[in-house]
Amino acid sequence: MILITGGCGFIGSHTTIELLQFGYECLIIDNFTNSSPNIIPQMEKITGKKINFEKVEMVDKNALAIIFKKYNIDCVIHFAGLKAVGESQSIPLHYYQNNLISTLNLLEIMQKYNCKKLIFSSSATVYGNASSPLTENSQTGIGITNPYGQTKFMIEQILQDFCKSDKNMRIISLRYFNPIGAHSSGLIGENPNDIPNNIMPYIMRVAFQNNTMHYINDNYKKVNIFGNTYKTKDGTAIRDYIHVMDLAIGHLKAIEKLKKGYDVFNLGTGKGTSVLELIHTFAKTNNIDIPYQFTNKREGDLESVFCNCQKANNILEWKCTKTLEDACRDCWRFQKNNEPNLIVDSFQKN
Ligand code: WQD
Repeated sequence: MILITGGCGFIGSHTTIELLQFGYECLIIDNFTNSSPNIIPQMEKITGKKINFEKVEMVDKNALAIIFKKYNIDCVIHFAGLKAVGESQSIPLHYYQNNLISTLNLLEIMQKYNCKKLIFSSSATVYGNASSPLTENSQTGIGITNPYGQTKFMIEQILQDFCKSDKNMRIISLRYFNPIGAHSSGLIGENPNDIPNNIMPYIMRVAFQNNTMHYINDNYKKVNIFGNTYKTKDGTAIRDYIHVMDLAIGHLKAIEKLKKGYDVFNLGTGKGTSVLELIHTFAKTNNIDIPYQFTNKREGDLESVFCNCQKANNILEWKCTKTLEDACRDCWRFQKNNEPNLIVDSFQKN
């Protein structure tokens, strides 16, 4: 059985669906910090299968041990973790505590129960300010501007050391670029519990507010484009946006190719897209209006981040099959069908 930590989150849920559809047996653990139990019936609808789920706080080592005792887990995909860049700067200790302790607990319990396979959800953020196109050999750890990114980098170091100490361990870190998109059913997608930090869920809410009968709140009148004086084709920053279903398949490929030792792979498209191109593609593909305005640059943002994904193409035999238009269409289908999750939003307003 594959244990999926954080399996109710955005990438975890889409990956679990792919795993189930390829016949893998899965168990999700989650604590719903940035997700909701409502996703479980949706995943069951998509797959026609019962989702095995346990609510677990991974910082509680005993709770984790109970899971390994109860289920026969031979592989773990570790998605669980706090991931809001801005929040990580306001409450760094909480980020270090949560992301590092939960991973250390996981490794200790995996060792105890002789579980030797792990896929870790890492991020392009580990490259800090290295220049694009980024390969797996690009410099890491220099110029990371926030505690969230530091935790990803530190965990990669821990995994490497852990692998050296146990020659039977098989670990792959997958460095995601910018995941967007949603499942084509429109039943699951990205729906953060607070005001989105990332561009795509923000665009989705602005689209919802301006193209449906619903008014969410004043936050979603327009997309704020952070900076238009970058040295890029249209002055806005460049990122590598990858469809979450392509990302999900990357995890399946990584499981198939796990071999003894530690390895890392970039998962991205290899293609850079500007913020303006993303907004225009979303509007055009869905034939809707996305109002926007230019504002100041966001502190810590880089001008251009995109990958070279040759290593994953060659060794994992993985390639992206979805386009930016597919992602924009899938996001809008999901958002039209699902009211934005506004738990913290409305709390903040009061
Ligand atoms: C993309 C582009 C913004 C919001 C971060 C993490 C990374 C990863 C993904 C996550 C940038 C611009 C954004 C907005 C904007 N991990 N933007 N208006 O910063 O590339 O990466 O999220 O969980 O580790 O660092 O992604 O989506 O925040 O921004 O103009 O309202 O959109 O300036 O150029 P980023 P993002």
